[in-house]
Amino acid sequence: MKRTLIRAGVWLLLAGAAVGLQACSALGVAMAPAKKATAPTPDAQALAGDFWLALHGGDYGRIDDLLERHMREVVAEPGDALTLFHTGLLHAWKLSERSREPRNARVVEHAIAARRLFAEAAQLDPADARIAGFAAGFVMTEAAILSNEKQLRQGYFQMQDAVASWPEFNLFTSGYVMSANPPHSAPFTEGLEQQWRTLDACFGAKVSRQSPDLRPYLSQETQSGRKRACWNSWIAPHNWEGFFLNFGDMLARSGDMANARVMYQATRLSGTYEQWPYRGVAERRLANLASLTDALNKAPDNEPERVTMNSSAFSCMACHQASGPPSVRSGS
Ligand code: HEC
Repeated sequence: MKRTLIRAGVWLLLAGAAVGLQACSALGVAMAPAKKATAPTPDAQALAGDFWLALHGGDYGRIDDLLERHMREVVAEPGDALTLFHTGLLHAWKLSERSREPRNARVVEHAIAARRLFAEAAQLDPADARIAGFAAGFVMTEAAILSNEKQLRQGYFQMQDAVASWPEFNLFTSGYVMSANPPHSAPFTEGLEQQWRTLDACFGAKVSRQSPDLRPYLSQETQSGRKRACWNSWIAPHNWEGFFLNFGDMLARSGDMANARVMYQATRLSGTYEQWPYRGVAERRLANLASLTDALNKAPDNEPERVTMNSSAFSCMACHQASGPPSVRSGS
């Protein structure tokens, strides 16, 4: 009896110490000073200039060199949210357009790096909902690769917050991430609905799901405020074309060929359609609509063109490339 009591007492003491330690470590972390954001240095600004040259030039081959130079800047200035964001974007670009290169498993390391860098940038610059969107997207992408359902749901809810902060930008981002799923799965269907909702948010009207006509909204084009994310800009010179190319792909994969045709044709409503490096892709999709559903849904591994845009060799460049040769054959 006495020995049992003593034993119970010892266990209680040990348990108390464990709870105390846990509270102590939580408190210790909470008391740590918050990381301070710092503005990009002149070096970082010059580096951003090179970043934009490569992105707008479609110069995928420069990513490795740029990653080295960006990481040096991150190590020197770990509080610079812009450089952290751009470093994450270089990893994201490398991963997204992997079908430009022979298959290699280590490409998934770019998802892991991007997720971590976006999280760090988002913490330093919580006001930029674009960073929050990429951060949530890569929590989901990494979770999908590692098949971690808890992390996937965490990313999903994180994405909902990002969508609420900037719907015109992040409804697309969210749906684009979910377009990686099979065509009749719940996440794919939700992602497709989010492309429709992007139109509603952009144009301030419920766009017809039966016979959509986008021409009446073209006069709303703007370069400022949240609605700028709906149009072409210096940052994303063919955002309009890229958005509708992906929308067409998602509709085609779901079997809705009438609307897929409308969305592929909508790429031509852009004033800079003729300069778009990927117009050949839209034209070839339109010319082969009958076989497109199967082609996109059953694309072989590492297929660069006849695959849903999210997995293609123009996954980022469809919107961001202004000059230079396309990553797939040009012409129609
Ligand atoms: C559907 C078109 C589209 C696709 C696809 C797309 N983006 Fe963007 N991107 C945009 C738009 C729109 C913006 C916001 C522009 C703004 O802030 O005015 C943006 C913002 C950016 C920025 C700006 C960061 C800054 O410093 O301001 C970068 C860099 C970028 N995207 C890189 C990428 C990368 C890398 C990918 C592929 C993983 C990608 N984007 C895919 C349309 C797109």
